[in-house]
Amino acid sequence: MNYPPRLTLANLPTPIHKLERLSAEVGKEIYVWRDDMTGSVESGNKVRKLEFLLADAMAKGATRIITAGGFQSNHTRATAYCARRLGLEVSIIVREPKTGFKPQEIPTGNLLLNQITGAELQFVPFAEYQALGGYGPLLERADEQWRQRGEKTYVIGEGGSQPLGCFGYIYGVEQMLSLWPKVAGTKFPDSLFCADGSGGTHGGLHLGYELNGLSTNAIWAVNVCDSAEYFQKRVGKLIEDTAQQFNLRSINRELQVLDGHFGTGYGIATDEDLRFYARLAKQEGVLLDPTYTGKAFRGMLAEIKRAPDRFGKKILFLHSGGTFGTFALQEQYARALAAA
Ligand SMILES: Cc1ncc(COP(=O)(O)O)c(C=O)c1O
Repeated sequence: MNYPPRLTLANLPTPIHKLERLSAEVGKEIYVWRDDMTGSVESGNKVRKLEFLLADAMAKGATRIITAGGFQSNHTRATAYCARRLGLEVSIIVREPKTGFKPQEIPTGNLLLNQITGAELQFVPFAEYQALGGYGPLLERADEQWRQRGEKTYVIGEGGSQPLGCFGYIYGVEQMLSLWPKVAGTKFPDSLFCADGSGGTHGGLHLGYELNGLSTNAIWAVNVCDSAEYFQKRVGKLIEDTAQQFNLRSINRELQVLDGHFGTGYGIATDEDLRFYARLAKQEGVLLDPTYTGKAFRGMLAEIKRAPDRFGKKILFLHSGGTFGTFALQEQYARALAAA
């Protein structure tokens, strides 16, 4: 496989290990692919995408990276730290929560980590983001502002989920496939689960499977917002664009998205969710995040319970990071644990 230029920003390959006690409980072999260990403050799935995106930015002589995300975006936090490692300036469009944002609030989690890097943060009320139909116009505006000030800008869209970013998980699949047999004793997992947030991870995994001659029927995404149809369309288009732009052999556009597992909304966890994450941390020493991996993992277990034969025996869950999002829910966590 000929990859576009890539920088080394992540600690790769990340380990895969079996969740021994949970596997015994569920009656399946459940493995976890630890992409929460791609790094420290620059950890999670986004770093894989950034290895390719920032290589492109550097090759183009960029001086400032401009990107966007929610209040507790893992993508913007990973981008800020990776960009700083490369000596670049960073601007982040920060979408405020639906419920509003009080400037006197003490920042926590990813937002605090972003502030610590000295990145320029442009806060945008949720209603404005919605009225504009997404981050596109806001990114364009920031791009224009900084170019007029003489900077060489490089814009990374939401979640780094653009064709070049997909190579993060095309490369990831190659690494997973070389590790898996040593850990699990078969050539590839019967099923691979991931979270769908902006779709680039799913798109990259899909292409990686196709390019390695594997059936994409083994990939299951759990959406953490929107709907299955939304992601099938969005990820399908991303795969199409990536294949076209980079001349990849890809024909399959069937995407399996398991809907109905994100509860009352994006980033909202119930006390029961938090107690489940605490239970898994106690049982296996693995911490899921409340916005992405927690919802996807619970979704996976619910689907296995609903249709035990659908996913095979050896199941791999992609832990895509998000650890710092936990701190944004510290008060709710404390309450939920106290009530356990
Ligand atoms: C921790 C974590 N897991 C999963 C995802 C979903 O990945 P993607 O945006 O590529 O769909 C994201 C970001 O959206 C994330 O931050």
